[in-house]
Amino acid sequence: MKVSLISTILAAASIAVASDVVSLTKDNFESFIAEHPLILAEFFAPWCGHCKALAPEYEQAATALKEKHKDIALAKIDCTAENELCNNQGIEGFPTLKVFRGLDLVSPYTGQRKADAIVSYMVKQSLPAVSSLDKDTLENFKTADEVVLVGYFSDNASNQTFTKVADRLRDSYLFGATADEKLAAAEGVAAPAVVMYKSFDDSKLVFSGDFTVDGIVNFAKVEAMPLLGEVGPATYTAYIESGNPLAYLFIDKPEDKEKFTEILLPLARKYRGVINIATIDANLYGQHAENVNLKQEWPAFAIQEIATNYKYAYDQAKEITKESLTEFLGLFDSGDLSPTIKSQPAPETQEGPVYVVTANTYDEIVLDEDKDVLIEFYATWCGHCKNLAPKYEELASIFWNDEELKSKVVIAKVDTPNNDVPDDVRGFPTIKLYPAGDKANPIEYQGDRTVKSLADFVRDHGKYGIDGWAVAEKKTAESILEFEEDTAEHDEL
Ligand SMILES: *[C@@H]1O[C@H](CO)[C@@H](O)[C@H](O)[C@H]1NC(C)=O
Ligand SMILES: *[C@@H]1O[C@H](CO)[C@@H](O)[C@H](O)[C@H]1NC(C)=O
Repeated sequence: MKVSLISTILAAASIAVASDVVSLTKDNFESFIAEHPLILAEFFAPWCGHCKALAPEYEQAATALKEKHKDIALAKIDCTAENELCNNQGIEGFPTLKVFRGLDLVSPYTGQRKADAIVSYMVKQSLPAVSSLDKDTLENFKTADEVVLVGYFSDNASNQTFTKVADRLRDSYLFGATADEKLAAAEGVAAPAVVMYKSFDDSKLVFSGDFTVDGIVNFAKVEAMPLLGEVGPATYTAYIESGNPLAYLFIDKPEDKEKFTEILLPLARKYRGVINIATIDANLYGQHAENVNLKQEWPAFAIQEIATNYKYAYDQAKEITKESLTEFLGLFDSGDLSPTIKSQPAPETQEGPVYVVTANTYDEIVLDEDKDVLIEFYATWCGHCKNLAPKYEELASIFWNDEELKSKVVIAKVDTPNNDVPDDVRGFPTIKLYPAGDKANPIEYQGDRTVKSLADFVRDHGKYGIDGWAVAEKKTAESILEFEEDTAEHDEL
């Protein structure tokens, strides 16, 4: 009885140990990635439910791959133990799955979280990103997907460049290549060349820039975008990633779509690669209008500058015509349009201790060169922000209640969804310090949400190095003394 129990425990233990998933830490992460050509890595936290659900599937996939595909490794990183590593990898949620081909070539895993799906996704990733083509296969290949890129070359260098492009974009487009010079000639290009074939718009496009990885990647991303596309959940990311300003026309009626397509197409052609122009279905995504500072009245038009997150809303009191849109886009392109800033009214006086910042007062308060400014970007619906609020007030009152400190340190907050701020804020609350005299280099707070840690952060990164916590402790001590003296006096009476 006892023996069999022990052997059961031992068997269970040996199963747990004999995992085919490799555990990585900061000590072996880089060397492991460098030594293995293709790795799927799971960044997880032991408490996360989705991670627990994935674990047996992941184990099973690792075992299956180990048998037949020795070049593919499955790894996992416990982010509660490897905080720094996960931060460096930009991990924001669990589980995060990434495909590594060396440290420089990383792409998100976009497959299902089942053992067989993981195996087939990774096997596909291990196949060459570029298919070899010849005169019999080229024609069919051109139409094998919505966007196809074909490299025509005979030398090794351009082959390598194109292969690198394909490795980076293999999840987005289909890549093929041929070294047959006759095929290049028939296509009207001279090697080395890259031609994009699309199932929409101008169906064939020849790359004409310098034959570099970045040049071709950029060409692919810009040109693969439809001339006049539609913004929706499936396309939005590609628009944002292209980095170009995005001009939207919100429409709610089919007849408007027809009418405006005719107006927008020539503009889309004119600004190709400079401004992406698209329509968006106001019936489905009308709420998005508020993100670009428009009221929900249709049709409506706005331009969102991705790089700065500025929005340029077309005056909704005016009619949208071919002429007015042409003018609006022209002014935007020449830099003669002012962004539409969404701002709450600024409070007439700061009733303190936390300064209320709005879009209109952001520069004046946050960028005040004479002050160390700690600012919290919050949203009214954010629970963590509510939890932080009393501590943040306590921190602020340390500085607010002392004229000397108040003239040097400002603790502020901004209701971010209701005020356009220049900061790229990805989650709430986000806290940053804008040091006096160095406003171009704000530092983001990463510490725990206690008054002392926040005060230490202001001391360590602010220009004035004021130790608010020490000041507060000293005051507390003094007030206790005063209190004792008071009572002593009273006692005497
Ligand atoms: C081209 O590259 C391959 C591998 O990258 C190499 O084996 C081959 O010798 C190279 N050919 C020339 C002509 O340089
Ligand atoms: C590109 O190089 C690879 C590896 O050297 C080779 O297998 C492939 O045939 C080459 N492609 C062309 C089109 O020459």
